[in-house]
Amino acid sequence: MKLTINRNSPIPLVEQIHNGIADRILSGYFAKGARLPSVRQLSKQLQVSPVTVVHALELLEAEKLINRIQGKGTFVYDAPENAGLDTNAPEEGGRHKGKSRQNIHSQGSGPVPLDMPDYLHRSQYLYYNQKPAEINFSLSAVAPQLLPTEELAKSLLSLAQQQPEILAHYGEIQGDLQLRQALSNYFAREKIQAGPQEILVTNGSQQGIDLVARTFIGPGDLVITEEPTYAAAIDVFRSRGATIVSIPMDEEGMRIDKLYEWVDRQTPKLIYTIPSFQSPTGKVMSARRRRQLLELANDVNCYILEDDPWSEIYYEEAPPPHIKSLDADGRVIYLKGLSKMLSPGCRIGFMIASVPLLNRLITAKTNADLGNPLLNQKVILPIFESEHIHKLLARLRPALRSRRDLCLSLLGEHAPPGLVWNRPKGGFNLWLSLPEGANTNDLLMESERQGITFLPGSSCFPNHLAWHHLRICFAHVDEPLLRQGIIKLLELIKQYLEDHHRNKGRTPVF
Ligand SMILES: Cc1ncc(COP(=O)(O)O)c(C=O)c1O
Repeated sequence: MKLTINRNSPIPLVEQIHNGIADRILSGYFAKGARLPSVRQLSKQLQVSPVTVVHALELLEAEKLINRIQGKGTFVYDAPENAGLDTNAPEEGGRHKGKSRQNIHSQGSGPVPLDMPDYLHRSQYLYYNQKPAEINFSLSAVAPQLLPTEELAKSLLSLAQQQPEILAHYGEIQGDLQLRQALSNYFAREKIQAGPQEILVTNGSQQGIDLVARTFIGPGDLVITEEPTYAAAIDVFRSRGATIVSIPMDEEGMRIDKLYEWVDRQTPKLIYTIPSFQSPTGKVMSARRRRQLLELANDVNCYILEDDPWSEIYYEEAPPPHIKSLDADGRVIYLKGLSKMLSPGCRIGFMIASVPLLNRLITAKTNADLGNPLLNQKVILPIFESEHIHKLLARLRPALRSRRDLCLSLLGEHAPPGLVWNRPKGGFNLWLSLPEGANTNDLLMESERQGITFLPGSSCFPNHLAWHHLRICFAHVDEPLLRQGIIKLLELIKQYLEDHHRNKGRTPVF
């Protein structure tokens, strides 16, 4: 197990060890019931005192992530009747002596091989790889019937027939020039002035986050995020060895006063933010905060990564101007993905940055994949060249608004006492909070048995994991199933809360 700690990090060692082990358990990397290395092994491997390791294990035990069994060892939490049965003790370096047992979140795809040590830090991809469920509230995607799939398919076929030579070219690593030109015009309407030379085409905005991290983030660098934040971004920054500090939000978004407290201790290298319909909370950063954040970045000489998957998908009014549109000094790297508004399958996203930054990011893109497939770029080109994209968005918004409204009215009608939720003004996410002490990872196990998945909120917290939230994406399932799924899930939450209350806070066993 390649647990690492950073002695210069402002995060206490106990918390770092706790986070590292919790990540591996929650992601399913450590199988349910698997034996963990001993206190002695961990303290030797991490060069910390046994007392520090014991404190971290105590936290994990209190969170019901592990069982410690006297005389037997420490095990990933399992039902009491199975606890302590695993004889597959992982050796130093992550090796298991025998075949591992099935992992918690990988039933659909088989066990994760534990005999190859890795440097992944959270492996959240396992959440996106949950076993197929009839009602998938976990996947953050639009229902295919709401996207212009047939149009894209027609364009794909005619391109392949009329210009088959496209398949014989690599294409420019930075992205197709015609597409970058069309995008430059698209972004001008969004008040972002960027020439084609300042745009890089990426494989989704996920690759944009990864390229920025590979290029600019190294071990010990401080990365600031909102709390909670997009789970897969946490993985990316963690795998670069960054120290992640998450800043709480209020109704105006990230709290700049709290951010200044950290900045006074250590200068961040990067501030990662999703200002419009933040994931997972749906919050919108106010215009005032956007300006303040940019001022801070200029003051302390750090950069902002503005991730913008869905600012076009608003249900009331458009969000305030992008931070990038206010950026006169090249402080902001802006990401736009097309997955949420056009096609996740095309895997296209765009990055906008000043030329000196972008040139280095193009080098990282070269190392990663030598550029996006040209065919996919040519398929979407007419949609941006003709400005057809605006008509498509005008069609998408009311369809998604109607799903949001359905969820809100069902919540109003069926939510059990103690459950609170957001009212997103755009994007796809409902963020539900149970009373503190509840654990949505437990709720998920029962919910999966009933054919419903969601994203447990703990995956969205880089440090102090909060267990009582969950994220529901309402854009993916069709309306009849959405109605059925929300009502069923609310029943499960009600039952969970009643059992939880009866057990005086102990985790109920369904
Ligand atoms: C906030 C956020 N950023 C980035 C992504 C990655 O999207 P893609 O790579 O499909 O553009 C997602 C996907 O869910 C997301 O929610």
